[in-house]
Amino acid sequence: MTPELTGVDLTDPATYRGTGRLALWRTARRRCPIVRISSSRHGPFWSVTTHDLARQVLEDPVRFTSTRGMRLGTDEAAVTAAAGRMLVVADGADHARLRAAHAAWFRSDEVTAMRDALRQRLEAEVETLATGEPVEIVQRLADTVPVWAMGRMLGTSEADTTRLAEFVRAAFAEETGQGRRSARRAASAHVFGYFANLLESRREDPRGDVVSALAHEPDPDRRLADDEILLSCDGLVNGGLGTSRHAVSGVLLAFARHPDQWLRLRQDHSLIPSAVEEVLRWASPPMHIMRTATSDVLLGGARVQAGDRVVLWIPSCNRDESVFAEPDAFRIDRRPNRHLSLGAGPHYCVGASVGRIEVRVLLQVLLDKVDRIELRGEPVRTASTFLHGLDRLEVALLPIHRPDGEVTV
Ligand code: HEM
Repeated sequence: MTPELTGVDLTDPATYRGTGRLALWRTARRRCPIVRISSSRHGPFWSVTTHDLARQVLEDPVRFTSTRGMRLGTDEAAVTAAAGRMLVVADGADHARLRAAHAAWFRSDEVTAMRDALRQRLEAEVETLATGEPVEIVQRLADTVPVWAMGRMLGTSEADTTRLAEFVRAAFAEETGQGRRSARRAASAHVFGYFANLLESRREDPRGDVVSALAHEPDPDRRLADDEILLSCDGLVNGGLGTSRHAVSGVLLAFARHPDQWLRLRQDHSLIPSAVEEVLRWASPPMHIMRTATSDVLLGGARVQAGDRVVLWIPSCNRDESVFAEPDAFRIDRRPNRHLSLGAGPHYCVGASVGRIEVRVLLQVLLDKVDRIELRGEPVRTASTFLHGLDRLEVALLPIHRPDGEVTV
């Protein structure tokens, strides 16, 4: 390992709270793009920091399985119980069957209805926030936008979805220790209990939500068993809440730090699609994705052995200078933009359309109502090895002043 990485604990959530992470990864990409971490609080693993190596791993599910878990520090018994029956920890034919069952809802008109409802909700919220006074964005938008979207997907009330999100967060808290472990298990049991009741009610009274769609799948080849539906619901809330939260705060931080890019987007709305991708790359909501080697593999010159875990640091891959010119710059016209924020290969985010809608609709509403986004105070980064984003972000949203009577479209 290079001297710069010696003494750095990559598995300590606090490592990522400071500002040094980007410099650390820059050094790692140059000096040791793949390196074995022989001991950590989560045991040994290979650390990968470059785009090319991460893609090789993500696109090769035969030699790098997801069935042993896709993140460091998960409850191994829970992963074993879910392997092959939950999308994110399934491979091959199991994965294809589960994926087909999920994909049907994501292609339906319900997604468009969700987008329209989200836009309406956001218009009202941004209207109250765009006063020029300081606003704490994580609480006011990043915590709520994913909850509104998820509530529409599950057909659950806002109060229920908010509580569910709290339990999901507690189930995945990263603190170690026996007490913490049992608190995590209790939170997880609560989430499953909630979904068991929801499934029962949707069996009797189907609606347009994803749970009803899974429960009433007409195609026998795609129909899931009840426990698989519960695992699917758990997978959707785990996959969709934390990541989107950091994507939302990423929108505000990116444009607060780059007012020239905000001005450019205001002048040219045709850049919205590429701005969405650049926000996803620049913010990089996932911190890592993990796989386990199924056989001995030579990866970037390293001899990875069967059973070894490989951890891909996504914000580093998304700033790989061999793929992205001026990787630290935020450029809304960046094309192509082959970021890995939504993964790659067969496990590419099944909720990507929803994640993109959340970012795009927020941008559209902000463009409609906000003249300038100004940072007020230093953002506080989340201490996490799994998610990369903010716990606190204070900005002022300066409203667009329109002459009386002017209508916006
Ligand atoms: C901007 C927001 C989002 C980001 C950055 C994101 C990121 C990711 C990434 C990196 C993966 C790949 C995991 C792997 O390879 O092991 C993934 C998979 C997944 N995501 Fe997302 N996600 C987002 C939004 C969502 C939403 C809104 C949902 C649910 C509605 C969702 C549900 C899932 C599920 C179920 C998987 C597993 C897919 C599979 O294994 O085939 N995600 N996501």
